[in-house]
Amino acid sequence: MSTQTEANIGVVGLAVMGSNLARNLASREGNTVAVYNRTYARTEELMKEHGDLGFVASESIDDFVASLSTPRTAIIMVQAGKGTDAVISQLAERFEPGDIIVDGGNANFHDTIRRERELREQGINFVGTGISGGEEGALHGPSIMPGGSDEAWETLGPILRSIAAVAEGEPCVTHVGTDGAGHFVKMVHNGIEYADMQLIAEAYDLLRRVGGYSVEELVGIFREWNSGDLESYLIEITAEVLSQTDAETGRPLVDVIADQAGSKGTGVWTVQNAVGLGIPVSGIGEAVFARAVSSKPVQRAAVQKTVTSRPEPPTVTDTFADDVRAALYASKVVAYAQGFDLIVAGAKEYGWDIDLGALAKIWRAGCIIRARFLNRIVEAYANKPDLETLLVDPYFADAVAKGEDAWRRIVGVAAASGVPAPGFSSALAYFDSLASERLPAALIQGQRDFFGAHTYQRVDKDGTFHTLWSEDRSEVATEPSTH
Ligand code: 6PG
Repeated sequence: MSTQTEANIGVVGLAVMGSNLARNLASREGNTVAVYNRTYARTEELMKEHGDLGFVASESIDDFVASLSTPRTAIIMVQAGKGTDAVISQLAERFEPGDIIVDGGNANFHDTIRRERELREQGINFVGTGISGGEEGALHGPSIMPGGSDEAWETLGPILRSIAAVAEGEPCVTHVGTDGAGHFVKMVHNGIEYADMQLIAEAYDLLRRVGGYSVEELVGIFREWNSGDLESYLIEITAEVLSQTDAETGRPLVDVIADQAGSKGTGVWTVQNAVGLGIPVSGIGEAVFARAVSSKPVQRAAVQKTVTSRPEPPTVTDTFADDVRAALYASKVVAYAQGFDLIVAGAKEYGWDIDLGALAKIWRAGCIIRARFLNRIVEAYANKPDLETLLVDPYFADAVAKGEDAWRRIVGVAAASGVPAPGFSSALAYFDSLASERLPAALIQGQRDFFGAHTYQRVDKDGTFHTLWSEDRSEVATEPSTH
C-alpha cells in the first residue's frame, strides 16, 4: 500500500532503533517519512502504534522508493553486516544519480569506504553515519556523525539537524568528513565508551572491595560524583544500575548479574585500527582485554583453584573515595586523549579534514559518552586546534597534576590489594611514559641491534649505527635496517 504523498526522507529497517529514528524524524516540522521493513508486519505494527505521525508506509521496496521525493534519501537502520549490503543493493538498483543512501548502523568504516566508492561510480551518494545514544537517543535526539560527500550533506544536514540532540543550543550533528569518516569516529566513540565504562567499573570495584562501601553507599557516591566534573551519562546510569534491587532475590541486581562482559565488536575494531596506525590506545585496549578476561571462566576457575592466598587489602583512610574519584578523572583524561589522538591519526591516514572541536561539541549530548567533561575538550581544541595531546591542555594538565598523588596511591592500593585496575594503572603508565625523560626503549634498541642488526640512533650525534656484537663490538655508521 502506498499513498501519493512524497516523503523527503525514508527509513529502511524498523526494529526498535529504526522505528524510533523514524518516529523522531516524523515528529519534526518539515519531515514526511517513508518507512519500509522487509517483514511488512513490523511496518503495520509501527503504523498501528504511531500512525498519527503521518508515515508513508510501503509493503514493497519499489513502492518505498517511489514514495521518496528527489533527491531520494533513505536511512538504512539494520544490524551492521551482510544485511546492510543486501539493502544497499536493493536501493541502488532503484535509485538514480544524486540520490542518497545513509547507513545508520555500526558498520566498519573500511566497509563504508568501499561502499561509498562503489556507489559513487553509479552517481549515488553513500553516507556512513554514526548514530549514538541507543534506542532512547534515536527517539529523542541522538548524536549523529555523518561522513560522505558535501553534496549529500547539503540535503542531509537540515534533516539530521532536525532530529539530533541539542547541547548549548547547537544540534549534535556535524559533517565529520568524507567517505568513512563518520563511521570511523563512531568506532572511536565506542572505544572511548569502553574505556570510560571500564574505569567506572574499576572505581566501583575498589570502593567496594577495598573501601568496604555497601552498594547503597556507592549509589550515593556516584550520584554525588555526577554533580561535579565527572558528570556524565555513564556515571548517571552507574548509580541507577547500582540502585536496582533484584526482584527475585532482594539482593542488589549487580550481585546477581554474571560477571562476564560481552561486546559487539566496535571496541575491538578501535584497538585493531589504533595498532595499525601506531596509536597507543592503552585505555581502550585494557577495556577490551578486561571484557575478554572476564569471559574466560575456565581459565579464571583454574587460576582461582591454583592460587592459594590473596592479599589482604590495606586499611584505607577517609580520603580513599576522593582518591578513587581523582584517579578516575585522571585516567579518563588519558583515555579521551588517546581516543582523540587516534582520530587525528585516522584523519591523516584516510585524508579526512576532521574538526576535533566540532566533534567534541556533538558528543556533549545525545551520545553514550556525553559528559560535562566534553565542554572542556571543546575549549581545549578551541584554544589550540593542533594540541599535541589533551594532557598538555592547561585545564587538563592542571586537573591531572592535582590528582596525580591520589592516582598513584590508588594504583598502589589496587596492586597491594589484588584488585585488578588495568585501566587506572595503564593510564598512569602511559602518563609516566610520556613524562619520562628517558625510556627503557634504549635498551630495546640495543637488544634489537644485538640479535637482528636492526640498528639504532644515538642521542649525541645524527646518523644510524650498528654495533658489531659478534666481532670486536666496535660501532659502525650504517643505513637504517630494512629487514
Ligand atoms: C551507542 C552505543 C552503541 C553500542 C552498543 C553495544 O553509541 O549508542 O555505543 O552503538 O554498539 O551500546 O556496544 P557493545 O556491545 O560493543 O558494548
